[in-house]
Amino acid sequence: MKSALLISIALAVACGEGSDSTSPSAISAPVTPVVFGEVYAGVFRDRDAAVYCTGCHAFLGAELSESELYDQLVDVPADRAPCAGKVRVVPGDPEASLLLVKLVPGTPACGERMPAGGGLFGDPLTTAQIELVRRWISDGALR
Ligand code: HEC
Repeated sequence: MKSALLISIALAVACGEGSDSTSPSAISAPVTPVVFGEVYAGVFRDRDAAVYCTGCHAFLGAELSESELYDQLVDVPADRAPCAGKVRVVPGDPEASLLLVKLVPGTPACGERMPAGGGLFGDPLTTAQIELVRRWISDGALR
């Protein structure tokens, strides 16, 4: 059993070698776009993030379902000064999406980096969480 597996792996490796650019092995595997469920579970319902984002923001409220939270983010303008009017999530355009602009390290174009309070209410999201948000937006902010 084990040796049969090893042989098939060896064959797969051998067949991959020396192939030209038109062979299937040279075509990169399709990348599955990030959907909102991953962001909801991995960022907004993450045990720690849930406390510090939802505590200050009704639009991120802990009681919101996945689709209710989606509807608060995508194509929705911010409601608080000084970022009022800027759009929280612009599908396909991370740089124009206020949500991401407020999460990345550094001082955003308006207001504070989130979570506000400079660490008093919680640490910033992890790099992996921020990159998940970025990928979700650049993949089209799918539901
Ligand atoms: C201590 C309270 C506090 C915490 C915690 C906090 N925010 Fe904020 N947030 C604010 C305040 C106050 C503003 C308005 C001033 C500004 O833009 O800096 C704001 C503005 C925002 C805005 C832009 C305004 C809008 O209506 O869209 C976004 C997006 C945002 N926060 C997301 C988050 C996220 C995501 C988290 C968690 C990582 C978070 N915030 C944590 C207080 C907080």
